[in-house]
Amino acid sequence: MGILFDEQKRIFKLDTPASSYVMAVADKDKFLGHVYYGEKIEDEDVCYFLRADDYPFMPEKMERERVPFMGGFPFEFSGHGCGDFRSSCIEIRTTDGYTTVNPVYVSHRIVQGKPVLDGMPAASGIPAVFASEKDCSTLEIILEDKPSSVEIHLFYTVFEKLDVIVKSSCVHNTGKKPLFLTKFLSSSLTFENEPALDVLTLHGAWARERNIQRRPISYGSYKIESRRGETSHLVNPFMAVLEHNADQRQGNVYGVSLVYSGNFVMEAELDSTDSVRVTAGIGTDNFCWKLESGASFSAPEALLVFSADGIGGMSRIYHDLFRNHLIRSKYKFQDRPVLLNSWEAAYFDFDTDKLLGIAKEAAARGVELFVLDDGWFGKRNDDNTSLGDWFVNEKKLPGGLVRLSEEVHKMGIKFGVWFEPEMVSPDSDLYRAHPDWALSVPGRIRSLARNQLVLDYSRPEVCNYIYNMVSAVIREAKIDYVKWDMNRSLCEVASATLPADRQGEVLHRYVLGMYRLQGRLVTDFPDLLLENCSAGGARFDPAMIYFSPQIWCSDDTDAIERLAVQEGTAVVYPLSCMGAHVSVCPNHITRRTTPFETRAMVALAGTFGYELDITKLSDEDKNAVPYQIKLYHRFGSLMREGDYYRLLSYAGNRCWDSWQVVSKDKKSSLVTVIQVVTEPNRRSRRLRLEGLDSAKSYKVEVVRMSDAELSEAAAADAVYLEGRTFSGSTLMNAGILVHRTPGDFAGTMYYITAK
Ligand code: DGJ
Repeated sequence: MGILFDEQKRIFKLDTPASSYVMAVADKDKFLGHVYYGEKIEDEDVCYFLRADDYPFMPEKMERERVPFMGGFPFEFSGHGCGDFRSSCIEIRTTDGYTTVNPVYVSHRIVQGKPVLDGMPAASGIPAVFASEKDCSTLEIILEDKPSSVEIHLFYTVFEKLDVIVKSSCVHNTGKKPLFLTKFLSSSLTFENEPALDVLTLHGAWARERNIQRRPISYGSYKIESRRGETSHLVNPFMAVLEHNADQRQGNVYGVSLVYSGNFVMEAELDSTDSVRVTAGIGTDNFCWKLESGASFSAPEALLVFSADGIGGMSRIYHDLFRNHLIRSKYKFQDRPVLLNSWEAAYFDFDTDKLLGIAKEAAARGVELFVLDDGWFGKRNDDNTSLGDWFVNEKKLPGGLVRLSEEVHKMGIKFGVWFEPEMVSPDSDLYRAHPDWALSVPGRIRSLARNQLVLDYSRPEVCNYIYNMVSAVIREAKIDYVKWDMNRSLCEVASATLPADRQGEVLHRYVLGMYRLQGRLVTDFPDLLLENCSAGGARFDPAMIYFSPQIWCSDDTDAIERLAVQEGTAVVYPLSCMGAHVSVCPNHITRRTTPFETRAMVALAGTFGYELDITKLSDEDKNAVPYQIKLYHRFGSLMREGDYYRLLSYAGNRCWDSWQVVSKDKKSSLVTVIQVVTEPNRRSRRLRLEGLDSAKSYKVEVVRMSDAELSEAAAADAVYLEGRTFSGSTLMNAGILVHRTPGDFAGTMYYITAK
């Protein structure tokens, strides 16, 4: 078991295969202090860091200077209003109006396995991060603040085989009166005497999601948060703290990823003692939870990863964690059906004949799933109406989805549809019947976005009604795949049924309602392949991949723009989750034209599919489609299950982008290189590979993307690479030589196999 408790010295030590996390109870007041997190250490007793004389004003020595002590002690779960003026983990308001809270250690227990987290992605009763009893053990520490009758349970789950510590927290009101929680976070970490750290986060906007931002942590506080009620395009619930010199390959990196899809906050605060406190949890904006006497509130899980092998090492741990312990879908380790989605093919302009024409050509070329996107229901011919009216528009689709589905199935392929279940159009039967079902504040304008309002998912009757409509469509039309979209942020957040003192709960209740609904859907339809989406990738977070093994990465399908989006996404999320499609050129968003095969190489880094009218492709491109689909299946399990290495970043060097995936047994690997822009007067590029076995010998194949001739550069690569073997040590240290292509946006893939 990876959890030790030294009773005499009151030290907790958590050990993963390569990391240790140490806490200790200090002082007569029993403050729980954070002592160490990082590369594995052997000794338990490192609590000299919390020795009374290291903290000159420890209350047991000098009560008169309690405030300065509180301001510098590395609290594991910091309170509020007692002299610790840094960012807090809990804030409350009692019915008497008091806000002070200062939790101290009471007791603990250590259990095998991992307790179920109430209401989070585990809404269906399965823990958010699940593992067998043998895989993990959990430390539960109980803190209390007697004057406010607050009891806090901190949970730390340690995995035997992964360098992950899963943290969550739960608060109970043990008093007789209600109290109000205005902040309750999931995790806090302290890095003492560490002024030289960077922070890495993922930022963006619609069509530019999850671009990497890295900057030094300086005095003061660096905070990322979503106040939009959803994860958002702008920022992802992930933060890594890393040494200045850490890069993809080396250096200490600490990741914090929050399993949550609503408002969140993450903060890295460097104080005058050169300590950095990193906190993470549900966002405080508009949050106020009434805790009745005897009631509890659970915070979502924070997934902590430590890697001494740089950013790449951290990414690989997250990928393993998500694949093995978080994604619940039975499809997570299966080849997904290669799909063609109708959105960029037709937008709202379709009828049954047009759709069947596309589906027929797609099926003939090897596509395995036809997805009908937006526009099939109510009277929706543009994005102004009918959300909430989940019945088919028979004018457009005579015979309805049932007929369409039957026809598509007859072609030997699967059939999927799009829903946006959390929304309602003011012009809809649903809204006319139930205007109070939309989030709104009485007497205020109901602010529109894409001409739609947000349904009040904090109300079970609203969720049930929508679920009944959606599930009837799935059942009747024998739907194999659902794309669950969500196209706007939440505002005028209030519920018609909650009392005044509970309106601050709506945002979190909304998220819980959405989790319950998605949980119901995948439980009632165990064969359904669910893909989440939120105006592209606004809800690409760990909680959503719990329900759906894939999420649409971005509405930007331009292969070059996708390089940055997919690079940032892969910092945390496995490639098997990244919805990525080949679309037409000029690209509908950027107007850029890129080679068809480059578009395929970029989409092959994700779930792979098409987002185009295949009947309109040139014969050359049409002929390449079956070839590309075969490649997806050839490399499918490698890409889904292998270890990911980022070799070059176009965002950093403005010319080359490259990534590599290596199978766990190191017997096969796929390397993709994209030469984004041509640089004049430059020689070919030396590229060092990673993750191979130095002692093994490997063959290198230049992957053919169609039956056309290889490009000049790829052919030049093939001349020296093919027909001979290279040792892993040569490939990793000396590398391969990638020939330059005249012209922009060219790519080459290399498939490497051990002899
Ligand atoms: C936003 C999604 O990201 C798109 O893929 C598409 O489904 C549209 N919504 C449809 O309205």
